[in-house]
Amino acid sequence: MSNLSSVALGRFEAQDADGVVALWTEVFGAYHPSNEPRAYLARKLAYDPELVLVAREGARVVGTVVGGYDGVRGWLYHLAVAVSARRRGVATRLVAEVERALLARGCPKINLQVRGDNLEVIAFYKHLGYELEERASLGKRFV
Ligand SMILES: CC(C)(COP(=O)(O)OP(=O)(O)OC[C@H]1O[C@@H](n2cnc3c(N)ncnc32)[C@H](O)[C@@H]1OP(=O)(O)O)[C@@H](O)C(=O)NCCC(=O)NCCS
Repeated sequence: MSNLSSVALGRFEAQDADGVVALWTEVFGAYHPSNEPRAYLARKLAYDPELVLVAREGARVVGTVVGGYDGVRGWLYHLAVAVSARRRGVATRLVAEVERALLARGCPKINLQVRGDNLEVIAFYKHLGYELEERASLGKRFV
């Protein structure tokens, strides 16, 4: 297994598109139509491309995180690391990088939603100092 230093982080670039879609398909599998990978990516890139971060190992995309900031709270989405690249600190670096970008925009707090049964991701975020908060999560779909 190659070591962590062979993984480089950066903002999404056009040539990453296929790799990002492949990674999300591997990690997230089935999706709601509103999360169709290429449409999701296109919407986000049109709105705020600077907060789409990728981890690359050579030409291969092995990780992503998507940040958002609306002037009130920062949000994290689509944190994903390829199964073959896990437990090497890639997600830790991606979250640190998107936290820096959000902080630079003046963001005072970051939230994220994760399914309650996704214990691995909850364990990961707790490791980084995120706390489980007792909130009801409401949503309304337009698509
Ligand atoms: C969660 C995920 C992003 C972690 O990626 P990663 O690069 O392997 O994480 P890191 O190597 O930075 O892990 C840092 C620490 O987090 C904790 N951690 C990471 N994965 C964990 C797991 N599966 N179970 C328990 N703790 C875990 C550990 O404390 C780990 O440190 P250690 O390896 O020294 O024990 C990755 O497993 C993943 O992509 N999971 C599925 C994606 C997903 O469901 N995303 C949520 C979308 S909201």
